[in-house]
Amino acid sequence: MKNPSKFIEKSIQNIKEKIGEEKALIALSGGVDSSVCSVLVKEAIGNNLIAVFVNHGLLREGEAEEVCKTFKNRLNFVYVDASDEFLDALDGVSDPEKKRKIIGKVFIDVFEREAEKINAKFLVQGTIAPDWIESEGKIKSHHNLALPGGMILEVLEPIRELFKEEVREIGLELNLPKEIINRQPFPGPGLAVRVIGTLTKDKLAICRKANEIVREEIESTNLHYDLWQYFAVLTDTLVTGVSKNQRKCGYLIVLRLIASNDAMTAYVPEIPWKLLKSMSKRITSEIQEVTHVSFSLSDKPPSTIEFA
Ligand code: XMP
Repeated sequence: MKNPSKFIEKSIQNIKEKIGEEKALIALSGGVDSSVCSVLVKEAIGNNLIAVFVNHGLLREGEAEEVCKTFKNRLNFVYVDASDEFLDALDGVSDPEKKRKIIGKVFIDVFEREAEKINAKFLVQGTIAPDWIESEGKIKSHHNLALPGGMILEVLEPIRELFKEEVREIGLELNLPKEIINRQPFPGPGLAVRVIGTLTKDKLAICRKANEIVREEIESTNLHYDLWQYFAVLTDTLVTGVSKNQRKCGYLIVLRLIASNDAMTAYVPEIPWKLLKSMSKRITSEIQEVTHVSFSLSDKPPSTIEFA
């Protein structure tokens, strides 16, 4: 982007004109897009922007704490821990699209409960260009959102024309911490799409630990600057392993380390062997339930980035 400060100045002016003295809500996930969007809109309308952070129990290690720490003093910030509600609704569900639908529905229920406490007219969304390009323009630029309970909010998407790198530049200009700006994208349904099959607290804990090991190992090198996403998938395949001369059955974890500019296409770059071995060794020694780690070699297309 040629001039991030110009973009910010112009956006602030537009947002002020549009929202005026009304209240606006944003669902803040702590990801780059919603974080940049929150801070941008806060610059325009101050505390009339209420940022609601819903913990759905499908977050990464330490994520909820980090988001709270970063934003609780910077924004008019509301934290809702709804993890039990989400996990109850997902009980026994293995189809990834069903998981997404359930998570979306529970999310709206939780969000609407918060929204009802605030007399907001606008909903700010951190939609960026690939979000609507991938859905073939199905997300209209000017639209209202009717929540199931009857609340109608006018949707505002201030960074809709931007691509990820541009969003990061705007974030830097707005003094967001580097940990937030450089954070790899994380899907809205979180670890629910990285645990294949039905979800349990135990499986989520295994997946969370494996993802944290991958993050630590990759970020201990400089490789993460070249990667779009780096994560672990907990499959529902059980594989035989051996421990203290005893055969035991455990999970298969797949490593997914992927380079991309915008997630529309992606490829698996060469990864140093030592690093792959080190991730594999740590995962099998630190997570007793895992007996096998493999590395996914497939680009997008034909594969997708996530496994589910
Ligand atoms: P796929 O797997 O479709 O992913 O190649 C492309 C990018 O989108 C992310 N992703 C999601 N993000 N909700 C999201 O907010 C979802 O349901 C979802 N599924 C995939 C994925 O992490 C990748 O960056």
